[in-house]
Order: sequence, then C-alpha cells, then structure tokens
Amino acid sequence: MSTIVLEDVCYSVAGNAILKGVNLEVKEGEIVSIMGQSGSGKTTLLKLMTGLRRVTSGKIIIEGTDISCLTENELEKVRLTTGLVFQYAALLDSLTVRDNIVFGIVRHQKKSSKAELDKLVEQLLTEVQLSPEVASQYPSELSGGMQKRVGLARALAMKPSVLFYDEPTSGLDPVTSHAIDTLIVHTRNQREVTSVVVSHQLSSIFRISDRVALLDGGVVRAFGTSEELHASSDPVLQEFLQSDIVPIAQGEERHQNNGS
Ligand SMILES: Nc1ncnc2c1ncn2[C@@H]1O[C@H](COP(=O)(O)OP(=O)(O)O)[C@@H](O)[C@H]1O
Ligand SMILES: [Mg+2]
Repeated sequence: MSTIVLEDVCYSVAGNAILKGVNLEVKEGEIVSIMGQSGSGKTTLLKLMTGLRRVTSGKIIIEGTDISCLTENELEKVRLTTGLVFQYAALLDSLTVRDNIVFGIVRHQKKSSKAELDKLVEQLLTEVQLSPEVASQYPSELSGGMQKRVGLARALAMKPSVLFYDEPTSGLDPVTSHAIDTLIVHTRNQREVTSVVVSHQLSSIFRISDRVALLDGGVVRAFGTSEELHASSDPVLQEFLQSDIVPIAQGEERHQNNGS
C-alpha cells in the first residue's frame, strides 16, 4: 500500500495556477525526493501534503485518509503523525533547544513529567548526533547544521510515521550537507519513516532517494529511480540533470569576474 497518494492535485493562488495536476505515489518507508527549479511549487506541494494549505482540486491521501476534505480539527490529528522539517529550521528563538524539541508534546500530550521530557530530549539529541548539553542552548548559538538537526529532533519527538523535509541541506557547506543527507537516510532506516524530501540540490537528491520526481510546469514531469531518470530521453529532464555539472560558459564566467 502506498503511504502517500497525490491524485491530480491542482493549486491556484490569486488566479495563478501553481500546480496543474500533480500525481505521485510514495510507498511505506520509501525516501522520495521532489526536485525542480526555484519557484516550481515544491514548497507549495509540501504545504499541501501537510495540510498547511488546501488543494484547489484533487486528492491528497496520507495513510488511507484523503486530507483534502478534512475539517481543521481532523487535520490537526493528521499533523500529529506527520513531521515537517522546514528549510530554515524554524526554531523559536526565545526558547531553549529543549523547549523547542518538546514544544509539540507539551502542547498536545500534556501528561509527560519534566523528568520524562528531559530524558526524551537527551535521547533525541543523541539520535540526531548532537551532544545532550545542546539542550540548554538557544537556536542563535547553534550553527546552521546544528539547527537543522534540532529541527529534525523536534519533528521526531512526535513519533511521526511520515516526515517531510523542505530543502534540508540548503545554505550548508558540502561536508555538513553530506552529514545531514546521511542523517535523513539513517532516520528512515532506524524508524522506517516514509520520507519526502524537497530539494533543488541534485547531489543530495541522488545520494539519499529511492525514487525522484521532477516537478516542472505544475506537473510531475518524470518519476523514477536514479537509473531510470538518467536513462530517460526526456530533454527537459536531461537538461535539469545536466544543470549541476555543466561548466559555466567562458563568456558567462568572464562576465561574473568583471562584476566582482
Ligand atoms: N501565498 C502565495 N501567494 C502568491 N504566490 C505564491 C504564494 N505561495 C507561493 N506562490 C508562488 O508559487 C510559486 C511556487 O512557489 P514555491 O512553492 O515556494 O516554489 P519552490 O519551493 O519550488 O521554490 C512561486 O511562483 C511563488 O511566487
Ligand atoms: Mg521552496
């Protein structure tokens, strides 16, 4: 059974069609990445899948439930089983790392004692490979990579069965990006959590994903394994795949150098 099924998902804002019939299936425990140019609608699609936005038409079926026709209260329950790791970690600056991590639990499952929460925070920090001392620090004291790890720990605190990552490695140096990629795969392996990653960084995408979708022109233009996509003859897909590795044309390079 597929954990996530998108059927003809359309989304328009202010008369502007951003998604024009997206179809996609993600199997249980799979890591699927959605790639596409900036502005292609990747973040919008994640917001629809997590119920932060409503589809204009179409279905979004998460673990057998079509979330597009749920009430706000029903959606809130679904959100408890799905975790979202935002592009900019989205931690609350005025709270310590500990309080950021337990924020959702304290809000939704008030019965945990302070000692239980402290223990959970320690376990989660260890799981995302941070030292337990980080718990008392504030987000502004952490590096970008550490903030992303805390963002993941916060999502894991709710024991999600589905995790969504928005540009998890954007703004990170290559070594830190690689470490976060490894952590995404490790998290899936340990927790068997179905994972959807939105990214425009091809190196990360092909390192971690079981299957990859290309979002282009408001639809899933291509979907398959790395081998299948690289073997495809679709010119739009091939241009996208090459965009990472084609050297900058000499003229452009000179132009850039002149500008600096
Ligand atoms: N609330 C909104 N109002 C107007 N335009 C929006 C809104 N949200 C997204 N868009 C537009 O939708 C398109 C897709 O945005 P987004 O999903 O953020 O793309 P991506 O994450 O792939 O860069 C962009 O052209 C953006 O300007
Ligand atoms: Mg985005």
